[in-house]
Amino acid sequence: TRTIKLAVLPGDGIGPEVIEQANRVLDAVLAGGDVVLDRTEFKLGAERFLATGETLPEAEQAEIAQHDAILFGAVGGVPGDPRLKDANIERGLLLKLRFDFDHYANVRPCTLFPGVESTLKHPGDVDFLVVREGTEGPYAGNGGRLRAGTPAEVATEVSVNTAFGIERVVRYAFEVASRRPRQKVTWVHKTNVLVHAGATWQRIVQAVAAEYPDIAVDYMHVDAATIFMVQDPSRFDVIVTDNLFGDILTDLAGAIGGGIGLAASGNINPDGTFPSMFEPVHGSAPDIAGQQKADPTAAILSAALMLDHLGLSAEGDRVRDAVRADLAVRGASTRSTTEVGSAIIDRIAAR
Ligand code: NAD
Ligand code: IPM
Ligand code: MN
Repeated sequence: TRTIKLAVLPGDGIGPEVIEQANRVLDAVLAGGDVVLDRTEFKLGAERFLATGETLPEAEQAEIAQHDAILFGAVGGVPGDPRLKDANIERGLLLKLRFDFDHYANVRPCTLFPGVESTLKHPGDVDFLVVREGTEGPYAGNGGRLRAGTPAEVATEVSVNTAFGIERVVRYAFEVASRRPRQKVTWVHKTNVLVHAGATWQRIVQAVAAEYPDIAVDYMHVDAATIFMVQDPSRFDVIVTDNLFGDILTDLAGAIGGGIGLAASGNINPDGTFPSMFEPVHGSAPDIAGQQKADPTAAILSAALMLDHLGLSAEGDRVRDAVRADLAVRGASTRSTTEVGSAIIDRIAAR
């Protein structure tokens, strides 16, 4: 028997609702096998902050670090809630975990499953993977506000790009691409304007690409990439890009792949020094929280990515097959969060 220590952070809003279904699906796919999940739940997020004033206590972070993987729901309160003004849950919790646990490869697949309606009228074949740098770029927090509140106020947000940080994520993207049939990497930046970081990215992509002669390499400015993604997403296989460009492109990808309720992600620490973290791309959706309206599919597909990462890709495939089968007949049905989870579990159990 293999015991996997899983840290579960359901978070706020619809987070606990969708994570409950992801956990049920994990139990179903592992039932009768020799893998056991040993779960520890951590109640972190806006609710915890409002109750105790804590965002991510050091001792809890150290405890989370002792797990094999993290399943994360979503955090954040109602945007603009004055009680959360000083909380900064996004930076203090979510980004802190990504940075401290060195989640440098933020992988966000975009697949349009059969039967799912895309936002695009003629989507074509949609099956690409965005590898978003996860630890630096404009997210690094490098900047400040001078003379705040005065007419002379100056704010800077300086993007941090290290050769070390770029090379490891670019290499990860080429490695992933080498295991996919199409053997293609598109790197996305804005080298015509962001000339400094752009030149560093370009130098490193070229150097890494030289080690992968069978992989076709393509470059796009990020603004043009949004056009191509909408006009012809079939031209993408693996996209590698910086933290902020990757954030924006993956919400667009979510819409193309059938909606944010289906978009999964993994924050990967490929070295295995720290636990990797798996989460839906969406947020806590306060507008539908507590109503059983949230689609748990993104959380369930994120759990499947976690299974892959843990060396259980056969189980990951079984989850994806069950999701694919459910999506094929789902149509415009209005099922509750639990009903969607149950439908997927039934298909796992039936195999
Ligand atoms: P959101 O993703 O929470 O919601 C955007 C829209 O999508 C809403 O209309 C919501 O109802 C809908 N939606 C989201 N997930 C859905 C699902 N699974 N099924 C059906 N509909 C779904 O984004 P937002 O409204 O900008 O942010 C709300 C809060 O979440 C904020 O506090 C924000 O900072 C936070 N947030 C957290 C994360 C995260 O934890 N990873 C990511 C994004 C936003
Ligand atoms: C995401 C979210 C986060 C990000 C926020 C909530 C910090 O938008 O996971 O895409 O910008 O990375
Ligand atoms: Mn985002």
